[in-house]
Amino acid sequence: MIGGCDTLDLAAEFGTPLFVYDEAHLRERCRQAVAAFGPRVNYATKAFLCRAMARLAIEEGMNLDVSTGGEYHVGRSAGAPAERLVLHGNNKSLEELRTAMADGIGRIVVDSFDEIDRIEHLVAEGLPVPRVLARITPGVEAHTHEFVQTGQDDSKFGFGVSSGAAAVALERLTLSPSVELVGMHAHVGSQVFEAKFFEQAVEVLAQFFATYDLAELSVGGGLGVAYVEGEEAPSIEQWGAGIRRACAAAGVHAWVTAEPGRAIVASAGVTLYTVGTIKDLPGIRTYVSVDGGMSDNPRPVLYDSGYETFLPRDVQADRPRTVRVVGKHCESGDLLVREARVPADLAVGDILCTPVTGAYGHSMGSNYNKVLRPAVVFVADGEARLVVRRETHDDLLRCEVE
Ligand code: LLP
Repeated sequence: MIGGCDTLDLAAEFGTPLFVYDEAHLRERCRQAVAAFGPRVNYATKAFLCRAMARLAIEEGMNLDVSTGGEYHVGRSAGAPAERLVLHGNNKSLEELRTAMADGIGRIVVDSFDEIDRIEHLVAEGLPVPRVLARITPGVEAHTHEFVQTGQDDSKFGFGVSSGAAAVALERLTLSPSVELVGMHAHVGSQVFEAKFFEQAVEVLAQFFATYDLAELSVGGGLGVAYVEGEEAPSIEQWGAGIRRACAAAGVHAWVTAEPGRAIVASAGVTLYTVGTIKDLPGIRTYVSVDGGMSDNPRPVLYDSGYETFLPRDVQADRPRTVRVVGKHCESGDLLVREARVPADLAVGDILCTPVTGAYGHSMGSNYNKVLRPAVVFVADGEARLVVRRETHDDLLRCEVE
């Protein structure tokens, strides 16, 4: 049961693969973020975005971190006022900046000198002067997968401290009449379990707070979540408290905010699949193929990420069998759970569930092999509502012009 709904009924009603989000869980995580960082803490929409999610985050008092014109558009279509959006991106186009500035976006996190040129150009065109944060790359190497490390010197993001770019950028942003510099931003990486990396970033940024009179510090997102048995992650509350302590110790008296994505949505979501084929390779392994795969969860392929799996028909069952859960795509790398433990009587037709799939699954999904994107349902108080319908084969032709 999730949100008072039987997952097997949900699979029967909405089909599989299906993303199911527990709405109370999502709301609770948003509230924890607001309690830890105060109102205007941002939800990083890249983790999972549709209009229902954007509305929920806004209703719970969070602002939205958007990193492209696309995320901006979905947030705005959900009814989020522009002043509650923060625009990110290492390569914002003139058009993305123009739309956001014309609407009166809340903050722009400036990432490059080229971007400062573009903002100055747009202000010269007559657009209002935006409030900006400078994205600083603090030179912190957080322990996480290389692909999601962002705080190290060798990064496409932000202005590096060690190269001197950060100091030059802050000077330019302070003097430019085309921006109102209100603070600094640093994001050290994603799926980070240890508080010390966030604290190191605060220590590095403290030198600039001593020089410039800046009101805001955003420590980005990145708080990790437990995906598999035995993992433990700090709570949002502990994360916030650690950062505040680090700020106090470093003499940073700014208003501190953050941008959690994964920590808000990951464990609120599960994916339901139907088992279609079981192939026993004697002496090698058993392959269990389900009706989705790398198109709804590319994380195992990209980052070698682990997931648990269970059968909703018997949640408490022993799971003595080890199998490999794979998808239906035309490549061997298409795996969902490398070493999945399942009940001995797993059979074709079973509904199989992978928990903690609420972040970066739906949002990084694709139509590879023209597989249709799954539906998304929100469940609460025994009611399920379809918030994103399943794609149809005709959707696959939507953009074709001949
Ligand atoms: N703020 C900035 C500037 C970011 O770049 C990110 C994530 C976040 C906030 C949110 O981070 P979170 O709290 O979700 O860790 N696709 C990868 C994760 C990529 C994260 C990119 N930036 C994955 O599936 O693990």
